[in-house]
Amino acid sequence: MAACSFRRSIASQLSKVLDLPPENLIKSISAVPVSKKRHVADFQLSIASVTEDSSTDCLAQDLHLQAQKLAERLKCDAVVREISAGPGTVNFTINRELLAKTVLQQVLKDGSQYGVKSELFSAVPRQKAVIEFSSPNIAKKFHVGHLRSTIVGNFIANLKVALGHEVIRINYLGDWGMQFGLLGVGFQHFGNKEKLKSSPLQHLFERLGVHFDEYSGESFYHEKSQEILKTLEDKGLLQKTIKGTGIVDLSEKKDLSSFSTVMRSDGTSLYITRDLAAAIDRMNKHSCDTMIYVTDKSQSNHFQHLFQILKLMGYDWAERCQHVSFGLVQGMKTRRGEVIFLEDVLNEVRSRMLQNMASAKTTKEVEDPMETAEKVGLAALIIQDFRGLLSSDYQFSWDRALQSRGDTGVFLQYTHARLHRGVKFMMGITETSRKRKPIKMNFPPHFHSLEQMHGNEQLTDVNVACLQEPDAISVLQHLLRYDEVLYRSSQDLQPKHIVSYLLTLSHLAAVAHKTLPVKGSAPELAQARLCLFQAARLVLASGMKLLGITPVTQM
Ligand code: ARG
Repeated sequence: MAACSFRRSIASQLSKVLDLPPENLIKSISAVPVSKKRHVADFQLSIASVTEDSSTDCLAQDLHLQAQKLAERLKCDAVVREISAGPGTVNFTINRELLAKTVLQQVLKDGSQYGVKSELFSAVPRQKAVIEFSSPNIAKKFHVGHLRSTIVGNFIANLKVALGHEVIRINYLGDWGMQFGLLGVGFQHFGNKEKLKSSPLQHLFERLGVHFDEYSGESFYHEKSQEILKTLEDKGLLQKTIKGTGIVDLSEKKDLSSFSTVMRSDGTSLYITRDLAAAIDRMNKHSCDTMIYVTDKSQSNHFQHLFQILKLMGYDWAERCQHVSFGLVQGMKTRRGEVIFLEDVLNEVRSRMLQNMASAKTTKEVEDPMETAEKVGLAALIIQDFRGLLSSDYQFSWDRALQSRGDTGVFLQYTHARLHRGVKFMMGITETSRKRKPIKMNFPPHFHSLEQMHGNEQLTDVNVACLQEPDAISVLQHLLRYDEVLYRSSQDLQPKHIVSYLLTLSHLAAVAHKTLPVKGSAPELAQARLCLFQAARLVLASGMKLLGITPVTQM
């Protein structure tokens, strides 16, 4: 991992000076975000994170002084060409040739694995996670909340899998109240999976590439929830109210200042009782390290109660259960109507995109406009949804989501298609137009397979060291940060870090595309630039895929 080898090298010098083990220092060294001011350093060490006594309030001046002192004790070497002190940081600038070579070599070698192989993840134990998401109610329509749960859950599952964890995806259908539900038998026996398969829901799953390892339903836990009530009673946790309902006291002082109702007065179970049964069942079946539930935030109390009751029942793993909640989407309406359901979203996004594509001058003849419109439209929905903190509500706007410029999924798709086309065109692979003759260049033989990088290729024949323009350096510096961004998202399960990273990458690539032409440049330079664009495209594509977006190659 490019960033890692640099961090390691910086850490090893620091470790001698600070007399701290390099492993402790690596976490404190981060790639500097690219800024509009040119000539930013590549890495920085935050002084506060390595000072001995972080409890005492260190004054800003003190930190600056400490940074200066430390910077003076460090020396430039073959890797680091410049060391300077900033407010509370020591800044490191990597040898420029080495920067280009190491980053590009690593991206092209690791391909979709770039970033996830970083040693930032080496201390993270591989785990097994059960992730429940989507979970619509079969008797009712699939609404925007379920759509949000589906794309959020899919993202979390994708990210975990990419980082080497084992994931079980569960769709827990709300089938309670339907006649087969009352019979207390799983929906499988009644062919409802078939019903699901023919629905727009299934269609959505197939675009998004969402799949589930398990479908279960609330009705499946009808009998088991009676067992739960029995256990609660045996453990002395079930109390009867005067009305005859069954409750569990959740308060610390056992004064019923907080409680959860788990049984109706007629002895039947409730939503939470079935969830208790389902959770225990999942844990028995999968013995996972963690269980994640993805629903809107109106269910936060429900899940807190669920985890508390499990804990009271003696299941310590309840501490490893997590509710990932998201806010409300307001104002999602069709052109004509009001509330919007899944079919409407899919139809609307497709037709709006088709219309936009038809009116855009830049749109080339796209092979399958319907399919492209759908992929681009879904990207627009996902990016609009993932831009902010998941828990915040947001006002949905078709126009904002579908803008071709600005921070949208359309812009990401557009950039991806352009980078893809650029690379292909320059290699003379796909260009058939008579007007535009492909440029003949002597690429090294392996260069033609850049599109299908499998990790063995070396850049030995391409002189990437000539990538020294500020716009090229900015792209390289940004590529250095990818592992840190993945790390942040893996910690708080928020997609927004990856989203803003990819938007910045697209903006930087768009600028570089303008200022660093391939066409008309000397072959050596053209090759090096192609490598840069190819690397940007690869990282863009893998980030998009994590978010659940299928990158398009034409639009
Ligand atoms: N079907 C429920 C709803 O639409 C969501 C289920 C959430 N998951 C759970 N285990 N309770 O509101």
